Amino acid sequence: MNAIEISNLTKNYGEKQALAGLQMTVPVGAIYGFIGENGCGKSTTEKIICGLIHPTSGSIKLFGKDYTDAAVRSSIGVLIESPGCFPALTVWNNLMIQATNLSLPNKADAVREVLTLVRMEGAAGNKYKNCSLGMKQRVGIAMALLGQPKLLVLDEPINGLDADGMRIMREILVDVARKGTTVLISSHILGELEKVATHYGIMRHGKMVVEMTADELERSCPTFVALQTKDLATTKTVLEKQYKQVLTDEQQEFLRVYDAESAESVVKYLYAQGIIVTALKTDKIGLEEYYINLMARKEGK
Ligand SMILES: Nc1ncnc2c1ncn2[C@@H]1O[C@H](COP(=O)(O)OP(=O)(O)OP(=O)(O)O)[C@@H](O)[C@H]1O
Ligand SMILES: [Mg+2]
Repeated sequence: MNAIEISNLTKNYGEKQALAGLQMTVPVGAIYGFIGENGCGKSTTEKIICGLIHPTSGSIKLFGKDYTDAAVRSSIGVLIESPGCFPALTVWNNLMIQATNLSLPNKADAVREVLTLVRMEGAAGNKYKNCSLGMKQRVGIAMALLGQPKLLVLDEPINGLDADGMRIMREILVDVARKGTTVLISSHILGELEKVATHYGIMRHGKMVVEMTADELERSCPTFVALQTKDLATTKTVLEKQYKQVLTDEQQEFLRVYDAESAESVVKYLYAQGIIVTALKTDKIGLEEYYINLMARKEGK
């Protein structure tokens, strides 16, 4: 079964068409990385899924039922923008209020459980306003997790977090997914997303460009031989006589050969031309480069 099935979704804000016939499928249990340039419609889609705004047309099914179904609605946890917390109250009290709003039977137990999930057991007594950005994001996720949602929708939850904050967030998402919650997460930090996502959806101009699993991404990312020499410019010219796909990497540190049989064959060829390879590795492009290349192709560059 799919957690989310969207077909032909459109959304107009006045004259502005934010969604232009979106198709989207999120399988149950996925950590679905939702990607696309600023303004392509990610937040709009997430807000519609969560019932915060109405679509213009189209159909949305959540766990096989129409998204307006009351039972389905109550099984969604959401963090879009900042969590609705009272600044002067403690983390604990904010969560207890939310647990009361949701009429949870064992409020204190439920709060303790989500605090453990977001690794905030020790910070329950802190006032919300005194929490760091990373802690506030985690409180937001704890709020969204109260009531054990089947689907968790997060809009750019790792923005502005430091390396440790991002690591903790990754661990939380993996934990949450392991416990059976499907996660939809939008982010521009593709290197981070790649560490946790099991599925991807890449949007552009209000439409889905491609959806794929992490395995499919892995298979469609080309491998290359990367090497360094004392003179990259000359080496590049020499390599181009033998290979068709030779590029300099973004940092201008390595030359990449995409169409070589093996690393060894490139080294041998260069040696025969009097060029010594000083560093060598084989590597694969990642999500970020895949995305940049895909967008460039769409722009017709
Ligand atoms: N309330 C609104 N009124 C009018 N236009 C809006 C409104 N909200 C969003 N838009 C427009 O709809 C389009 C999609 O916006 P949306 O916020 O969904 O994009 P996004 O993919 O989340 O972008 P970002 O990566 O910057 O968060 C944009 O062109 C935006 O300007
Ligand atoms: Mg957005």
